[in-house]
Amino acid sequence: MTVTARDKQWWKQAVVYQIYPASFCDSNGDGIGDLPGITSKLDYIASLGVDVIWICPMYDSPQVDMGYDISNYEDIYRPYGTVQDMETLIKETHARGMRIMLDLVINHTSDQHAWFKESRASKDSPKRDWYVWRPAKYSPTGERLPPNNWRCNFGGGSAWEWEEETQEYYLHLFATEQPDLNWENAETRKAIYASAMEFWLDRDVDGFRVDTVNMYSKPPTLPDAPIVDPETPYQPAGLIYCNGPRMHEFLTEMNVILEKYGAITVGELPCTPDTQRVLKYVSAKAKQLNMVFQFDVVDVGMGKTHKFETTPRNFTLPDFKAAIDLTQALIRGTDGWSTVFLENHDQARSVSRFTDDRPEYRVRGAKLLALMEACLSGTQYVYQGQEIGLVNVPKDSYPVENYLDIDSSLFYNMVKERYGADNKVELDKAFAAVQYLARDHARVPIPWNGKAKYGGFSEAAEKAGKEVAQPWMKPHPLAGEINVASQLDDPDSVLAFWRKMLRFRRDHADLLVYGDFKDLCPQDKDLFMFVKEPEHSGEGVLVVLNFTTEEQTWAVPSFAELGMPHARELVPIMTTHGGKSPVGQLAAFEGQVYLLK
Ligand code: NOJ
Repeated sequence: MTVTARDKQWWKQAVVYQIYPASFCDSNGDGIGDLPGITSKLDYIASLGVDVIWICPMYDSPQVDMGYDISNYEDIYRPYGTVQDMETLIKETHARGMRIMLDLVINHTSDQHAWFKESRASKDSPKRDWYVWRPAKYSPTGERLPPNNWRCNFGGGSAWEWEEETQEYYLHLFATEQPDLNWENAETRKAIYASAMEFWLDRDVDGFRVDTVNMYSKPPTLPDAPIVDPETPYQPAGLIYCNGPRMHEFLTEMNVILEKYGAITVGELPCTPDTQRVLKYVSAKAKQLNMVFQFDVVDVGMGKTHKFETTPRNFTLPDFKAAIDLTQALIRGTDGWSTVFLENHDQARSVSRFTDDRPEYRVRGAKLLALMEACLSGTQYVYQGQEIGLVNVPKDSYPVENYLDIDSSLFYNMVKERYGADNKVELDKAFAAVQYLARDHARVPIPWNGKAKYGGFSEAAEKAGKEVAQPWMKPHPLAGEINVASQLDDPDSVLAFWRKMLRFRRDHADLLVYGDFKDLCPQDKDLFMFVKEPEHSGEGVLVVLNFTTEEQTWAVPSFAELGMPHARELVPIMTTHGGKSPVGQLAAFEGQVYLLK
C-alpha cells in the first residue's frame, strides 16, 4: 500500500487528549476534580493542538475502581457534577472545534447497578441471566470450589464470588464489585446499548473509548487456564476469556448504532499478541472498531505472571523497539489502523519508565519521547500531565500508604499475606515495583501552579476565597518543579516542545501519521533509528534517538541502506536540543529528525 493510497480520515490524523476527571482540575475546592474544572481548561487543551478529548468514566459509581464500576450509565458521579454539566462540557468542546469521546465500560457494571441488585436478588429474578452465574464445583473431599481457576485482574484472587443467599458464584474479571454482564442474553445487550451508548450519543458525544472490548464473549465451556503460577489455585486466564467466539457478532451489532451517529471508537485490546487477530478488529473492511490500543509497548518490562512481579527497568531497548515495531506493523500493507500512546490512566509515567527521571535528565527524556511519538504512525493519544513531562511520584517522599488504587493496594496486601507483614525484603521488592509501575502515578492531581496550594489543583476555588480541601490523592511532591504555570511561557519547556511536535506531526502528516515504519537497528542497545517512508519515490524521514545518558555517535547510513536510493539530501528538520549536535552525534537523550529528499 502506498502512502497516498492509504485511506485518510480526520480521526487518523487527530490528536486525542485523555482526561481523568478525579485528577484533572477541581473547580469547587472539595479536593476532587470535576466537569466544570474540565470545561474551564478547554482553551488550554485546544492550545496544545488537540482535536479530541476523551473523558474517563464520569458516570455514577461507588468508585471501587475509580468509575470503571458504573452504577448508572445515565447519571454523573455527583462530586464530578450533573448531566447538565456534561451537556455544557460537550457544547463547549464543540464550540472550540474539538470533539469528545466517552469511556464505554460495558463488560461489567458495579454491583450497585440496579440490574445487578435485581439479578442477585433470587435465582428466579427476570434479570438473573443478565450476569454470569454458575453453580459451585466440589473437590473429591467435598470442598466447595469456583467453577474454574480464573484469576481476576486485581490482586491474586478468584474471578468468581460466592453468593451465600442464592448459592451460586458470579463472574467478575475485575474487582468483586464489578460483576461481568452476560452478553449471551440479547435483552441485556439491548439494554446496554440504550443506556450506555444511545443515551450519550443523543447528547452529541462523538465516540467512545471502549473498555476491555474483547472480553464480552466468553468461551461457552469456561475452561480452566493452564497453570503458570503453582503457588496459587488462581491462574491468569486472559488468553482464554479474551476474543471469545461471538465477539465480532456483538461488535457488528453495536456498529449498527455507532454508524447511525457517525461515532468513532477505540477499543482496548489486551491479551491479543497475534497481529492477524488484532486486524480482525481494525481492518476497515471488517467495520468493527476504528482503532485499538495494543499493549505491547506499555507492557514492556512488566512481570510475566503478575505485572508487579518484576524489578524496575526490567527490559532492554531492543525489547521496547520490537514492541513498537509490532504496533507499527499493523498498518503495513493492510487496511487497518494503529494508535500511538505511552501513557494512560493505567500506566506509570513514561519518562520514569522508558528514560530517566532524575532531575538532570527528565526534561530531555520527556522531549525525546514526545519527538519519538510524534513520528510514529497511527492516531496519537496524549495523557493529562504527559505534556508537562510529569514523572512518577518519588520513592522517598511518597510512601506506600499514599497509593490508593485497587490494583496496587491489592497487590501489596497479597505480598504481605504471602510472605508476612514483617518480611522486609519482599515488601521492599513489592514497593519498588509499585513505585515503578503503579497506576497511581497517572492519577496524582495535575499540578497547575507550583506556587498555589496543593499544586494549584483547586486554584480557581482558592482564588474565589473558598476553603480548599486536601486533594483526594496526596499532591505530587515535585509539583513545585513540574507544573503547567511555570512552563506556559517558557520556550524551552516540555510543554512548548509538545506543542511544537504536534504541529510538526500535522505539517508532515503524510509521513509521520501515515508513513511506513522501518527500524534500522533493532538490536542496538542505545540508539533507536527508524525511517518513515512512502512505498514509492518521494520524501522520507530519518529519526535518530539516543536512549542513554551518554553522548553517542552514529554512522550515517547510505540512501540505499535507508531504503531510499533515489534520495540526494539529508536535511535536519527537528531536534530536541536546538540543533547544536552535528550530523552523526547525539547528546544524552537527544532526538533528531532528518528529511530525506
Ligand atoms: C481497563 C481500564 O482502563 C481500567 O482502568 C479498569 O480498571 C479496567 N478496564 C476495568 O474496567
